[in-house]
Amino acid sequence: MNLESDVLKVCISKEEIEKIVSRIAKEINDNYKDKNPLFICLLKGAVPFMTDLLKEINVKCSIEYLKVSSYDGIRSTGVLRIDTKIPDVKGKDVIIVDDIIDTGKTLFELKKLIQDKGANTVSIAILLDKPSGRKYDIYADYIGTLVPNEFVVGYGLDYNEYYRNLPYIGVLKEEIYKK
Ligand code: IMP
Ligand code: MG
Repeated sequence: MNLESDVLKVCISKEEIEKIVSRIAKEINDNYKDKNPLFICLLKGAVPFMTDLLKEINVKCSIEYLKVSSYDGIRSTGVLRIDTKIPDVKGKDVIIVDDIIDTGKTLFELKKLIQDKGANTVSIAILLDKPSGRKYDIYADYIGTLVPNEFVVGYGLDYNEYYRNLPYIGVLKEEIYKK
């Protein structure tokens, strides 16, 4: 029932996350210095990443939040649901911000949709990349770090809606996933 005692190990510490976020912000600031990008944060997992990232973005930008889901427990259902209205992206330089790419389905489909709606450019900023899980031909333009094919939680990422508030990325004890 406790938060910390369910964690088997910490994979990426709070301090490491801070360094990753600063590095990505710098890359985006450099690449978009003459643009006014629209950041689209995917709810709910990318909220801590988006919030910390924005604090270090120094270009004039706008933000939107989009609710998408494709996971049930620790498995991808393979069906992407978009639960909120897609913002107006016509002519905009969109940066999609998400927590993790696994199969790539979410970002593959969403990127296509946003391009089809007339965005000028679409890039992807991701905190974690699980390349071994990839089933779709999609890559992120800004990548925090790679993770092995393990189910991770924390810093926005959940297991059945819990553990999003851990300040680091970790793996849970096996018995938690079996419950
Ligand atoms: P994809 O469509 O398979 O790439 O899945 C992407 C989404 O699945 C992410 O935005 C997460 O919400 C979720 N997801 C994938 N792997 C993990 C994980 O290890 N922990 C928590 N959520 C995950
Ligand atoms: Mg997500």
